[in-house]
Amino acid sequence: MIIEPRMRGFICTTAHPVGCAQNVKNQIEYIKSKGKIEGAKRVLVIGSSTGFGLASRITSAFGSDASTIGVFFEKPPSEGKTASPGWYNSAAFENEASKAGLYAKSINGDAFSNEIKQQTIDLIKQDLGQIDLVIYSLASPVRTHPTTGVTHRSVLKPIGATYTNKTVDFHSGKVTDISIAPCEGDDIENTVIVMGGEDWKMWIDAMKNAGVLAQGFTTVSYSYIGSSLTEAVYRKGTIGRAKDDMEATAFTITDSLSDLNGKAYVSVNKALVTQASSAIPVIPLYISLLYKLMKEEGTHEGCIEQIQRLYAQRLYAGDNVPVDDKGRIRIDDWELNETLQAKISKLWAQATTENLSEIGDLQGYRSDFHNLFGFGFQGVDYNTEVNEMVGIPSIS
Ligand code: NAI
Repeated sequence: MIIEPRMRGFICTTAHPVGCAQNVKNQIEYIKSKGKIEGAKRVLVIGSSTGFGLASRITSAFGSDASTIGVFFEKPPSEGKTASPGWYNSAAFENEASKAGLYAKSINGDAFSNEIKQQTIDLIKQDLGQIDLVIYSLASPVRTHPTTGVTHRSVLKPIGATYTNKTVDFHSGKVTDISIAPCEGDDIENTVIVMGGEDWKMWIDAMKNAGVLAQGFTTVSYSYIGSSLTEAVYRKGTIGRAKDDMEATAFTITDSLSDLNGKAYVSVNKALVTQASSAIPVIPLYISLLYKLMKEEGTHEGCIEQIQRLYAQRLYAGDNVPVDDKGRIRIDDWELNETLQAKISKLWAQATTENLSEIGDLQGYRSDFHNLFGFGFQGVDYNTEVNEMVGIPSIS
């Protein structure tokens, strides 16, 4: 079939298998161009099919020749209907890993469930024995708790007061004011249950109890802080509470790993266009201003550049992993540079529908968004018929 992008709000309902494969290949080429990293050799990535998790899987495999197991929740294709992009990304990743002689297997299912945890542990026992590094990179609006069976939904809301600010519809470029009512009832609790640290700890506990964590084991989960412009809806909002919980959980996990000399870290990453972040109001406007300035000063990074830097210059740079006063790894340092942030605040105040394409990188935002679904890649002929029924070799 000929596959075209079909946009619905901050979702695209189609994905291009050849474009997704090109995206994966481009990321692999970037990692290869940066040279080898003395990193972990047996790696599990939870949330490995898109965004930061996919970049982590690629960096481990092609930077450190690691065997990787990836867990994700993606929609397979059906006749005439494309898969979700993470499915095609994972298929392409496994094909490229296989060509390079690297072990790669994947599990598609709900990572919050006991069943998927057990399935993953069984696969580790069968194929790899133990794991040296777990990257936890889930982003989900919903979690069914495996113990209670209750389904919790996260919300992206401010706490305490209505938040009014500018936002942009990145498809049309229209800048408007948006008012977001404060959270109520169990909103904070639910958001913490979905996006906080509990599930991360459940994974590590289950793996430890099963004896599949290696000596010197490391686990990393991803967090975000961001600027004062977005803090009411992000870091000081409901999602920020979940991130606080995630960051506190790193210490609890580290305590539980003392006999293995293991360590849990949170890495604070840069704001980037992913499926998760485009759903958060206000963030697209912030990102388009951020991209413009960071590209101008030559400090712009995408997921793959961020994770390459995380591995090469933080996790595997020497005996001690550099952390901030709260024990977090920081690769959002270039984003949060004070001079840069002051410039963004100034542009933010000026931003209108008329001037945003000039003062911000709206085009870059749109292009990244299209790329998430495999569209807009050089070298891909989008007018050619492609087979949507692409399988993931280890799942089939
Ligand atoms: P993403 O939406 O690109 O990826 C999410 C991954 O989680 C996918 O692999 C998806 O299949 C998987 N997933 C979702 N629900 C699942 C489930 N129930 N079972 C199994 N897999 C499931 O997200 P992104 O942006 O890469 O986020 C990953 C982490 O990075 C999150 O913790 C996010 O808060 C954090 N982060 C994101 C930033 C951004 O600007 N995008 C900035 C800093 C941190």
